[in-house]
Amino acid sequence: MKKLRASSKVGHNSKIGHNSQMGQNSKMGHNSKMGHGLWMGHDLNIGGRSAGKCLLALGLTCALSLGLVSCGQKDAAKTDTLKIGLTVYDDSDTFLSQITEEIRSRAKEDSGPMKITVSAKGADGSQRTQDEQVEELIASGCNILFVNLVDRTDPSNIIDLARDNNVPIIFYNRELVKEDLMQWDKLYYVGAKAGQSAELQGQEIAAYIAAHPEVDSNGDGKIQYVMLKGEPGHQDAIIRSEKVVETLLAEGVELDKLSYEVANWSRAQAENRTSQLISEYHGQIELLISNNDDMALGAMDAYDQSNMTQNGRPAIFGIDGTKETLEAIRAGKVQGTVMNDATGQADAMMDLAERIFQGKDLSKLPLLNGKYIYIDYTIPQEN
Ligand code: BGC
Ligand code: CA
Repeated sequence: MKKLRASSKVGHNSKIGHNSQMGQNSKMGHNSKMGHGLWMGHDLNIGGRSAGKCLLALGLTCALSLGLVSCGQKDAAKTDTLKIGLTVYDDSDTFLSQITEEIRSRAKEDSGPMKITVSAKGADGSQRTQDEQVEELIASGCNILFVNLVDRTDPSNIIDLARDNNVPIIFYNRELVKEDLMQWDKLYYVGAKAGQSAELQGQEIAAYIAAHPEVDSNGDGKIQYVMLKGEPGHQDAIIRSEKVVETLLAEGVELDKLSYEVANWSRAQAENRTSQLISEYHGQIELLISNNDDMALGAMDAYDQSNMTQNGRPAIFGIDGTKETLEAIRAGKVQGTVMNDATGQADAMMDLAERIFQGKDLSKLPLLNGKYIYIDYTIPQEN
């Protein structure tokens, strides 16, 4: 197989350190995962390209000799098995774990005359680890890759590897820029439109406030709110944060922003940040808007830990529609969410992968510009 070439852009990773959205945020340093990403950028700058390349090659050799690879040994003559190699930015992410599970169960269902295997890896928030994983997955004979990028601005190594070995990639959830997706005709993206989730979240919140005027607990006609944001630089964090406010204003809700915190999609980080907000603002927070469900649950945990009475709690809204959040809504601890359709996204990826593998016409699929599939968000009945 072809490995990363001398011309490959390992040094390119240094972009992580300079990336305006990522580098700018002083809070990133506290996040161990992203901190690792920053460190990697610097390391590669110091060590130079060849050092990065050697490490990568060494990593691959070790992986092969330890038998860590799991797509099955490459056998050019045998193409009756669809071997999916999947790598996800962090396998502890709740929503993405749901997608992986859905992919596994679809693969099981569809395994018949066509055999399907899935080998999945988590990149622990390191783009370099993910680049190595892609190299291993290709070396072990995977014929389609599902890639959830760590750094959505840095797919170049992965694209080079896939193109050199003629292995199509379906990127998902963390959307790369169009120019990168256009680099080769066997690159695709499956995801959802962040703006749509924010509009639905905004409409839900407006409807909830209209039905529950007591949300404005100090009665000043404005809603004092805080926001919990996902990873800086992630399209969903950026767009959801802007658009939900726009929607609320368009719905005629008067807003008074108290603060925002970055909690990187994480329940634990959200609990920690919300505890700080509670001690800073006491009972003043009337609405807590979260970019995803796990952070909404973290906020709920923080209120559970505080000695705040039910009256002193804000209305809490997330996005994703995870099982645990739907339960929390039924229990009255979270007020609403938006369904991010993990099943629909996994199905779209599998439909696309199977058709590509079998050489079937892709025009039957809802592909935008021959490249993109976006699955709609919906409002769950629990709200
Ligand atoms: C989801 C988050 C998830 C993130 C990971 C978003 O679309 O709403 O829950 O953590 O993707 O990339
Ligand atoms: Ca108020």
